[in-house]
Amino acid sequence: MSMTYTLPKTEEKSSYVEKKFDEIAQKYDLFNDLITLGMHRYWKRFVVRQTGLRQDNSCLDLCCGTGDIAREIIRQYPSCKVTGLDFSQEMLNVAESKNSSNSGIEYLQGDAMDIPFSEASFDAVTIGYGLRNVPNLDGCLQEILRVLKPGGVLVSLDVGKVRLPLIAELNNFYFFRIVPLIGNWLMPDQEMFKYLPHSSLEYPNQEMLKRLLLETGFMQAEIHDFVFGASTVHVAHKSNNS
Ligand SMILES: C[S@@+](CC[C@H](N)C(=O)[O-])C[C@H]1O[C@@H](n2cnc3c(N)ncnc32)[C@H](O)[C@@H]1O
Repeated sequence: MSMTYTLPKTEEKSSYVEKKFDEIAQKYDLFNDLITLGMHRYWKRFVVRQTGLRQDNSCLDLCCGTGDIAREIIRQYPSCKVTGLDFSQEMLNVAESKNSSNSGIEYLQGDAMDIPFSEASFDAVTIGYGLRNVPNLDGCLQEILRVLKPGGVLVSLDVGKVRLPLIAELNNFYFFRIVPLIGNWLMPDQEMFKYLPHSSLEYPNQEMLKRLLLETGFMQAEIHDFVFGASTVHVAHKSNNS
């Protein structure tokens, strides 16, 4: 089913991903709207509701890209303070272009593998389509756990695995054949649109990610599937006593 394409080696993944997101930044939002038929907006609203943030809480939106989730946090929880972190300066430039000085959102360039904040800094961490892109998932989850306050919550949105065989075939056809075509139409010869579906091959399925979250030290982890599991949200809590 997959088109010829070789994923970058682990040690090259970060620089590859950063460069490629820099290249597609201007078209990223349109691409997302087209390939999800706008449904990513609904899933992001769901992500933000799951944080259960309270007045004046703080939230880190990791791998924030163009800032959809960061802005949604402020829309749902206007008194919260949000930090959007991403290593792609071009993605951040798009996010900044939609931001105002008193929005409650601060954008910062940085690496999700080495989050530039001290322990127990945030009440919640959100991450949309980010975990699939980091070179070491286990290491990134440990970083997230470190910067969360005791009792804090991680909410991650990403692609999932469809369990029903026929629908899984259809989903694979869409993801590996149609999505790169849409990408190629937007930005001819841009390899990134092949990377996106292929990156899902190495990414754990819903149950495996849940297990990994618990093994990393999260106390509790829930899965919320959309579109037969093609899109999935994990909600994981840090213990109150750590
Ligand atoms: C698919 S985009 C998602 C953007 C946004 N969260 C959304 O849901 O639309 C993934 C983003 O993660 C960023 N990213 C990937 N790996 C990263 C890392 N190690 N550190 C910081 N940002 C990273 C990329 O630059 C890109 O902006």
